Amino acid sequence: MASLVAADLAHLVHPLTNHARLRESGPTVAVEGDGCELVLADGQRVLDGIAGLWTVNLGYGREELVRAAAAQMSKLAYCTTFGGSSSPPAIELAQRIALKTLGGDSAVFFASGGSEANETAIKLARAYWASQGRAEKTIILAHDRAYHGLAIATTAATGLAAYRSGFGPLAEDIDHIPTPYQYRCAAGVPCDAASCPVCRGEALEDAIKAAGSDRVAAVILEPVLGAGGAIVPPAGYLSAVRAVCDRQDVLLIADEVITGFGRTGHWLGVDRDDVAPDLLTFAKGITNGYVPLGGVVLGASLWAWLREASPSEAPLMHGFTHSGNPVACAVALACLDILERENLIPAVVARGEHLGRELDRLSELEEVGEVRSAGLIAGIELVADRDTRERFLPEQRRSQLVADEAQRHGLRMRPLLDDILLLAPPFVISDEQLSFAVDTIGEAILDTRLAAIDRA
Ligand SMILES: Cc1ncc(COP(=O)(O)O)c(C=O)c1O
Repeated sequence: MASLVAADLAHLVHPLTNHARLRESGPTVAVEGDGCELVLADGQRVLDGIAGLWTVNLGYGREELVRAAAAQMSKLAYCTTFGGSSSPPAIELAQRIALKTLGGDSAVFFASGGSEANETAIKLARAYWASQGRAEKTIILAHDRAYHGLAIATTAATGLAAYRSGFGPLAEDIDHIPTPYQYRCAAGVPCDAASCPVCRGEALEDAIKAAGSDRVAAVILEPVLGAGGAIVPPAGYLSAVRAVCDRQDVLLIADEVITGFGRTGHWLGVDRDDVAPDLLTFAKGITNGYVPLGGVVLGASLWAWLREASPSEAPLMHGFTHSGNPVACAVALACLDILERENLIPAVVARGEHLGRELDRLSELEEVGEVRSAGLIAGIELVADRDTRERFLPEQRRSQLVADEAQRHGLRMRPLLDDILLLAPPFVISDEQLSFAVDTIGEAILDTRLAAIDRA
């Protein structure tokens, strides 16, 4: 193991990692996955409270997925979907996803992950307007705490400044609007959703009017914001946004990379408000992390536009080598079988209710400013002062220390920016494991407080 660790430090570039600090702590090497648990190289078992990266929703050790991949690899390991070429798994998956998401008049474009999916959605939205003779409709609006991936346009769409700084120039014509983040509402705290201009979609409409609706192509949003802090918009927000988009003639792109296929206890995140977007992106859980796959569902009008373009027009000049990779599609089909056969979406609702009740216990801790959750996605926001909601100083690294402590006690969780702890476990987690997770977080917060007092 020592040589593996040395090789990691010598040659592996880790995403979202401070490499100077990693040289001191060393990597955490996992060697096995089993249900909701990871086995680390030293034999320690840890409960995976973040499902890999909101991805391993069905848990580890799913032999059925291994068999689906192996069978497809033996038969036809690769087949492009460029130029009308196709393969049975890509066709079957496109049909199944279309019917499960935007319905019989929709269609699916495949990509390799969430960033590619969102890049595609942004390009399609602009191409659509250009084809309607409205080439000046290019602006994409995203929330200021959104995370939409880290390619060039998606980095620009990601609102959190830490992900953008130093990488310019980014894609043009991508702007930000306030997030419906009630704990720190841009329109003032306390936030009453019934009268709040952000939560009622008025801030979005003002932004569209300010830019000119003849300039705005689309709004892209996560139905529940993930990396921005597990932020759950109030009921009615998504339908307010849909209504604004309709009034202003702007497309709505739902980024369902985290929320799609069950995470919030609904089939889709937009089902929280029963809203139909024009474009819907997915990735992550669709293959349970076993192989990479993402995609975009084109709703009826976008699909009709593409399908009905005249034969003399230029073809869709967009695509990826792994668009519709048959092995990835075969694994995704098996994942959908499992999700349905094991009734995992109702399970998320039940586990989510238990988690919500358990998380309330953490509110007693002086560092816990707010706990919030939707299905099996939860955020625990740590603050230095509960009355003023003042944050800890970044150099205190409070949530990182809590997460490190939790891992020592057998729970993997993720500290997001601004000291928000994330919990997003596999859907197959038990109530006992969720209670263990909450107990462990509580202990880790207390231990970190005591260590800080000792240091002071
Ligand atoms: C909401 C959302 N969109 C897009 C992405 C980007 O996906 P990927 O990392 O597969 O490119 C992520 C990744 O976490 C995400 O959370």
